[in-house]
Amino acid sequence: MQVTSAAFAVGAADLSGAPSDGLPEIAFSGRSNVGKSSLINRLVQRKKLARTSSTPGKTQQLNYYCINDAFYMVDLPGYGYVRGGQDLRRSLGKLTDRYLKGRDELRAVVQLLDVRHQPSALDLLMIEWLRGWGKPFLLVLTKTDKLSRSKLNRQLESLADGGRLAELPYATFSAVSGEGRRDIWQWLADEADLGEPAASAAGKRGSK
Ligand code: GTP
Ligand code: MG
Repeated sequence: MQVTSAAFAVGAADLSGAPSDGLPEIAFSGRSNVGKSSLINRLVQRKKLARTSSTPGKTQQLNYYCINDAFYMVDLPGYGYVRGGQDLRRSLGKLTDRYLKGRDELRAVVQLLDVRHQPSALDLLMIEWLRGWGKPFLLVLTKTDKLSRSKLNRQLESLADGGRLAELPYATFSAVSGEGRRDIWQWLADEADLGEPAASAAGKRGSK
């Protein structure tokens, strides 16, 4: 997809602060520091659109980025550092929990996992929830630049072998090299029901 515009729209501390224009949304989920904001920046090729940080757990609101005036990318608060336990609702926080379960505009979730590690208990809870959700989700195994090609292949095999991630749609990704960017866009175009962003953006421009 050609990104013609990308801009921060709003940081919502509760659902009443989320946009009310009805545009479709794609959410980016994963533990703190896994690389959600870096992935958004790479997808739209804007280094500093979403704030990244080596200090985990900074973002505690839903950060909305408007793409091509046609849909939103929603950077979710990272989980796993502040709260603990095996309870998804408590671990994600009420805001994320309500957002994921109740937001009609949400079309798809991109769930990030660090390719170097086995998924945490919370990652697995989240993936189980996504399996039963009924809308599309993509696993993105990120930070591939941190592994050699042979280690990467071994790790991909072992993730699939575990059974729990087998047969789920996934893409590998590196925010450093950009590897995987096109595959992720392709998946979003095919699965995320974003309407016709290019046409609608062009239409909007034409009608102005
Ligand atoms: P929170 O907002 O705290 O939940 O974190 P986040 O998931 O948004 O992670 P963020 O994008 O801020 O990245 C965390 C750190 O990992 C930063 O130092 C990034 O530069 C680094 N990082 C993210 N993606 C990659 C990647 O693909 N490769 C490498 N080498 N580093 C990455
Ligand atoms: Mg972030």
